[in-house]
Amino acid sequence: MPTVLVTGGAGYVGSQSVLHFKELGWRVLVLDNLSTGHHRFAQYSDLFCRADLINLEEVRRAIGIEPLDGIVHCAARSLVPESIREPVLYFRENINGALNLIQAAGPIPIVFSSSAATYGEPSKVPIAEDATAKPVNAYGFSKLAIEQALAFSGEAYGTRSVCLRYFNAAGADPKGRVGEHHAPETHLIPNLIKVAQGQLGSFKQYGADYPTPDGSCVRDFVHTLDIAKAHEAALRYLWGGGSATTLNIGSGTGFSVREVLGVVNELAERPVAVEVCERRKGDPASLVADISKAAQVLGWRPQHSTLKPMIETAWAWHAHP
Ligand SMILES: NC(=O)c1ccc[n+]([C@@H]2O[C@H](COP(=O)([O-])OP(=O)(O)OC[C@H]3O[C@@H](n4cnc5c(N)ncnc54)[C@H](O)[C@@H]3O)[C@@H](O)[C@H]2O)c1
Repeated sequence: MPTVLVTGGAGYVGSQSVLHFKELGWRVLVLDNLSTGHHRFAQYSDLFCRADLINLEEVRRAIGIEPLDGIVHCAARSLVPESIREPVLYFRENINGALNLIQAAGPIPIVFSSSAATYGEPSKVPIAEDATAKPVNAYGFSKLAIEQALAFSGEAYGTRSVCLRYFNAAGADPKGRVGEHHAPETHLIPNLIKVAQGQLGSFKQYGADYPTPDGSCVRDFVHTLDIAKAHEAALRYLWGGGSATTLNIGSGTGFSVREVLGVVNELAERPVAVEVCERRKGDPASLVADISKAAQVLGWRPQHSTLKPMIETAWAWHAHP
C-alpha cells in the first residue's frame, strides 16, 4: 500500500485526490496551511499536517513524518486576478514553496499541479504540450518556473517528476463530500451557479465579441475526479520508472461561456442574470487541450468530464456546500 503526501489536500483539487487515493486503499498525508483550504476537507486524509511550504523546516518536518512513495503537489496561490495585482507574492510563494518541496523531497517522485496558464495566448487550438509557453500573468509564470526547476533538478539531483497542466478544473465530489469553496470565487461555473441559486446578484460575462461561434470565450473543463485519476496514473508511471514529462489534463473539448450558461439556466429552470462587460486583458478567445499525449504516456482519458453531468455535481455541491 503506497503512502502519498498531497500538498494542498485541503483545497478543491487536492481534496478530491485525497478521497480517490483513500478509495484505492492508499495511505494519505496532507500538508496544507489552510490559507484557502478547509480543515474539514483535510480530515479525509490519514494525517493532516498544518505547515507552510514557504517554511523549509516545516516542509522537512512534514515530509519526514513517515516514508513516502510519492508527492502530489497541489498547494499554490492560484487566483489569476490576484496574481496580476500582486505578482511578487505569486513568484515568492509559489516558486519558493515548490523549491522547498523539491529540496526536502529528495528522491521521492513528485506530480506537480501545473496549469494551462503556462501557455498564455495560444497560436493554435487545441493546444499541444510542444506549443510555445508564454504566460501572460505572474500565476502562469510561477507555474512555468516550477516546471523548469523540476526539470533542472531532475538533471542535477535525479528528482523524478510529472507536470500536469490542468485546464479548467470543474465539478464536485458526486457524494457531496468536497467541492469548490473559494472566497473570492473567480471561476466561471461556481459563479454562474451561485447567481442561479441566489447567492450572488449577477454574473459578469467578459467579452461578447471574441472570434468564437457565439462571441464568448471557449474553455476546456475537466472534472476533479478525472484530475485525481490523472494523479494516480502519473504516480504509477513514475513508480514504473517513467521519465520526466509534461502533460495536458483537460477534456479535449471546448465549451463557450454561453454554452455553460445554457446548462446552468436549464438546471435553474430560469435564465440567470448576465451582465455583458468589456473583454478582460489576458483572456484568450479559446483554450482547449490536446490530450493525446496524456492518453499515450499514461493511458489516461477523462471519464467524468461531460459538460452537463459535471455541472450537475457542482450544482448539487453549491446547494449544500
Ligand atoms: N482549479 C483550477 O481550475 C486549476 C487549473 C489549473 C491548475 N490548478 C492548480 O491546481 C492546484 C490546486 O488548485 P485548487 O483550485 O484546488 O486551489 P485551492 O486554493 O482550492 O487549493 C490550494 C490549497 O493549497 C493550500 N496552500 C496554498 N499555499 C500554501 C502554502 N504556502 N503552504 C501550504 N499550503 C498552501 C491552500 O490552503 C489550499 O488548501 C493549484 O496549484 C492550482 O494552481 C488549478
